Amino acid sequence: MSDPLLHFRAEFPILARTNYLISNSLGAMPRGVYDALHSYADTWATRGVRAWEERWWMLSLQVGNEIGALMNASVNSVSVHQNVTTCQAVVASCFDFSGPRNKIVYDDLNFPSVMYFWQAQQKVGARVHMVTTDDGITVPTDRLLEAIDEETLLVPVSHVIFRSAYIQDAKAIVDKAHKVGAHVVLDTFQSLGTVPVDVQALNVDFACGGVLKWLCGGPGVAYLYVHPDLADKLEPKLTGWFAHQDSMAFETGPIRYTDPPFRFMNGTTHIPSLEACRPGLKVIGEVGIEKIREKSRRQTARLIELADRHDWRVNSPRDSNQRGGTVSIDMPDSQQICRELLAREILVDWRPRAGVRFSPHFYNTDEEVDAAITAVEGILKDRRVAV
Ligand SMILES: Cc1ncc(COP(=O)(O)O)c(C=O)c1O
Repeated sequence: MSDPLLHFRAEFPILARTNYLISNSLGAMPRGVYDALHSYADTWATRGVRAWEERWWMLSLQVGNEIGALMNASVNSVSVHQNVTTCQAVVASCFDFSGPRNKIVYDDLNFPSVMYFWQAQQKVGARVHMVTTDDGITVPTDRLLEAIDEETLLVPVSHVIFRSAYIQDAKAIVDKAHKVGAHVVLDTFQSLGTVPVDVQALNVDFACGGVLKWLCGGPGVAYLYVHPDLADKLEPKLTGWFAHQDSMAFETGPIRYTDPPFRFMNGTTHIPSLEACRPGLKVIGEVGIEKIREKSRRQTARLIELADRHDWRVNSPRDSNQRGGTVSIDMPDSQQICRELLAREILVDWRPRAGVRFSPHFYNTDEEVDAAITAVEGILKDRRVAV
C-alpha cells in the first residue's frame, strides 16, 4: 500500500542515514533549515541593525501566528518564548497567590520542569495539590476533576503525557475549571504536531509547548496561547520592553502594556531559533495534522502488537483514542537495549518508569517500525545465547 506521506521523507536528511523514531524528543531537521539560517546570517551581515525594523521585530508575531494556525488559535493570540518553563512563569506572573484562591492542581505525570516551577511558587504563596497516577500510564481524571475546586487558581497539566503518551481529557478539565472559576494551562508539547489540538473548541485559557519535537522546529522556540477574552485583562509581572505600548519611547516608570501577543513577551527575541523553526511549521501544515494522526494511530498500534508477541510491558494506552504518538515499551533490560539501538542507528530514547520510547512520525515507513522491533528481538536473542 503506498503511503503519500512518505513523499515528504526527502525533506529530512537524517532519514537517509538513521531509523529516526524519536520525534517525541527532537523532530528530524527539515533541509529548509539550512537556507533559513543562511538567509538569517545574510540579513545580519548585509542589513546589520536595520534587520530589526525590516524583519526581526515582527518575526515573533509571524511565527506565533504560524504556530497558532496549527491549533486553530485566533490571529495574534500566540506569543513566543524560549521554553515551556518560561511560558509557565509568564502565566504565573499574571496572578497573585496571596488570597484564598491560590491552589494549583496537577498530576504527577506532568513534565518535571513544570512541576519544579510550580513547587517553587509555594515560596510566594501558591498551594500545590498533586493528584497521583494509579498505573504510571494514565491520570485518574475523576480525582483530578474533584481536586479542582473554588480555591483553585490554575490547572497546569499536559495534554499528552510525556512518559506514556496518555491523552488527557482536556475538555473535561477545562469545563470543570471554568465551572469553579479556575484557569487551565494546557501543555501541548507532546500533542501539537501529532494529535489534533483546537484551542477554540477546547475553550482553554492558556496553551503552551515547544516546537522541537513533533513540529520539527528545532530547539529554542516555545509558544504561549492566551485566550483572547483573558489576554487584554492580564498584566504579566514577568515583562519587559517588547510588551510596552511604545517600546521605542524608552519611557521611565511602570510599563504600559501593549496588545497581545507582545503583551506576554518581555526582552529581546531569539531570532536565529525563530528563523530555524519556520520550515518545520510549514511542512507540518502541508502534511496536515489529521493525516499525521491517522498514520500515527496505525504505526503505534503496530508497535503494541509487536510488543505483545513477546509479552513486553507496554507503558502506553492500548486504546488509540487515549494514545498520542509514542509507545513506551519496557522490555527486559530496556535501558541497555536503548543504548544498543542507538549504536545501530535506530534513534529512540529511554525514560525511567516508561522504558524505550518509540515515536514514529509522518516520515517513518512501516518497515522502519518493524525493523526497530526486529533489532530488539535480535539483541535479546544474542544475549540469551551469550549468557
Ligand atoms: C510535556 C512536556 N512539557 C515540557 C517539556 C520541556 O519543557 P521546557 O521547554 O521548559 O524545557 C517537555 C519535554 O522536553 C515535555 O515533554
